Amino acid sequence: MGSMMKEAEHVIEVEKLTKRYGDLLAVNDISFNVRKGEVFALLGPNGAGKTTTVEIIDTIRTPTSGKVSLLGMDVTKKKHDIVPRIGVLPQGFSSFDRITVRETLQYYSRLFRLRDTDVDGLIELVTLKDKTQEIYKNLSGGLQQRLGIAIALVNDPEVVFLDEPTTGLDPRARREVWDVLLGLKKKGTTVFLTTHYMEEAELLADTVAIISKGKIIAMGSPGELIESNANYLVLTLQFVDEQAFEIVRKMGFEPVQDNRKNIKVRVEHTDDVQKILNAIKDAGTSLHSLDVRKPNLEEVFLKLTGEALREGPAGGRGAE
Ligand SMILES: Nc1ncnc2c1ncn2[C@@H]1O[C@H](COP(=O)(O)OP(=O)(O)OP(=O)(O)O)[C@@H](O)[C@H]1O
Ligand SMILES: [Mg+2]
Repeated sequence: MGSMMKEAEHVIEVEKLTKRYGDLLAVNDISFNVRKGEVFALLGPNGAGKTTTVEIIDTIRTPTSGKVSLLGMDVTKKKHDIVPRIGVLPQGFSSFDRITVRETLQYYSRLFRLRDTDVDGLIELVTLKDKTQEIYKNLSGGLQQRLGIAIALVNDPEVVFLDEPTTGLDPRARREVWDVLLGLKKKGTTVFLTTHYMEEAELLADTVAIISKGKIIAMGSPGELIESNANYLVLTLQFVDEQAFEIVRKMGFEPVQDNRKNIKVRVEHTDDVQKILNAIKDAGTSLHSLDVRKPNLEEVFLKLTGEALREGPAGGRGAE
């Protein structure tokens, strides 16, 4: 535990972290490390314990038990040394309504007692150049979040914590925030991200930790997680007639029919795809189109927990 080698390469070390709120076990004995320069995503549904975890690491909350070190320092003992070296975008961030973009960044720079903040550079990084004289209140949700990210970067931090940076944004605004985050990734900034969007984790993260009910239930690169937890292909048959469902079921597969007359089948090999197509063709059944793909992180999550990542009617697909 905590050898010298580890200290050198791990910016964050979390060991057996637990947090209780009264009787509620919000974070339950979790351990993981974050390497310097990586984007690490904590992916999980509402109430999983993401904010609790991130805010213990960035010194806002205190753990019930366990050991957390950030930049080689104990987060419960070295707050004053840690805070100047990190940046934080809290969940549901908001700024001063009637202060302009430029003034806001200047304000935060002064708050940190910084002399050499490159306000223009930050504005450029989050692509708010056209909006420098705009007051916060008049910015769209996506622009407000981009200003939030710029605030988190005002002290040129070594580690940035972003708690659900794109929640509530429309797909286009989300994409624009992703572009900013991809820019940070390219620069080699260590980013600790929480999200309940699997596309976000898949696109941005080097390492994803899936958290559910206070426990980390799987961790690895997006590719590794899919490879080791969902070793199958998803075959979707579109606009097939009723018969096809029965044909596929009788072959021993477990097809699922969705509301648009699509059939989804998990298969092990591409051979199975061929067999299914042949059987459908032999039965003289019509088929509009088909799609074969690898499972995504959302399916991995569903398989591991039996619960959906996102709440509400939006569902997991079709947000594009
Ligand atoms: N300060 C607190 N006092 C009491 N309970 C809390 C507190 N903060 C969080 N909780 C509870 O702890 C659990 C984990 O909450 P947390 O906010 O860490 O989850 P989350 O993964 O960030 O959820 P979300 O996606 O909704 O932001 C929840 O059941 C929540 O209600
Ligand atoms: Mg949260």
